Amino acid sequence: MATTTTETKPNWFLAFVASSIGRKILMALTGLFLILFLTVHLAGNLYLLAPILGEVEQGRLFNEYAYFMGHNKLIQIVSIGNFAFILLHIIVSIWLTRSNIAARPVGYAYNSGNRSSWQSRTMMILGTIVLIFLAVHLPHFWAKSKFGGLEEITYNGVQMHNLYIATVEAFKQEWAVILYVVSMVGLAFHLYHGFQSAFQTLGLNHKKYTPFIKTLGFAYSIIVPFGFALIPILMYLN
Ligand code: HEM
Repeated sequence: MATTTTETKPNWFLAFVASSIGRKILMALTGLFLILFLTVHLAGNLYLLAPILGEVEQGRLFNEYAYFMGHNKLIQIVSIGNFAFILLHIIVSIWLTRSNIAARPVGYAYNSGNRSSWQSRTMMILGTIVLIFLAVHLPHFWAKSKFGGLEEITYNGVQMHNLYIATVEAFKQEWAVILYVVSMVGLAFHLYHGFQSAFQTLGLNHKKYTPFIKTLGFAYSIIVPFGFALIPILMYLN
């Protein structure tokens, strides 16, 4: 017994990732980080609605917010972590689903009544919808902001990207509005399942708190995607 402990110690991270529970914990932790990112992202994006609510210098609040986010050193580090976590979340999810499928007894999971495999397949489909959304979303705004292709605007002598105008132009297109709204439905279901299984994986199951966590997860997975969907709809209508 003592020999096994000494042998596995140096490779504890590899052993952790290679175990099914280790991968589940990684999925839960990266997922919870991304949930946090989405909350902050939505809060910042709400500045896009300020012109509709009467902002005099149309888009200034959003542009200054985006400028701050793009120039703050701490946020730049968090942003790298964000992309790393998105990548890790995707890689581990593929790994987990493959091992779930390989471990299923006979035939397809939903035929054999294997609930956890069925759930992970559903999560993969919903996650793919979110990934397709990101494949359109990131070139739309983030890539242009980082690699060029945006108009510039100056406020109080500070020149910055006019990301507000880029979003106005993007949401003039019906297909973009439809894509954002449909993707947010996929995101809502993905978050709903993800939120609950993350808490379950981390063992935060308690008679007293589980109903509250479930309600919180339910509210979060409706409010956040709804907020994201509302932005293109309102901008299109205005
Ligand atoms: C109305 C909906 C949304 C709008 C208007 C919006 C807008 C933007 C803009 C303008 C940026 C570029 C910021 C910059 O580089 O300065 C950005 C970045 C990003 N967005 Fe969104 N976004 C929306 C929804 C979403 C959703 C639902 C997700 C995830 C599922 C998402 C994921 C990201 C990511 C990962 C980045 C890169 C962030 C980073 O630099 O760390 N966005 N978004």
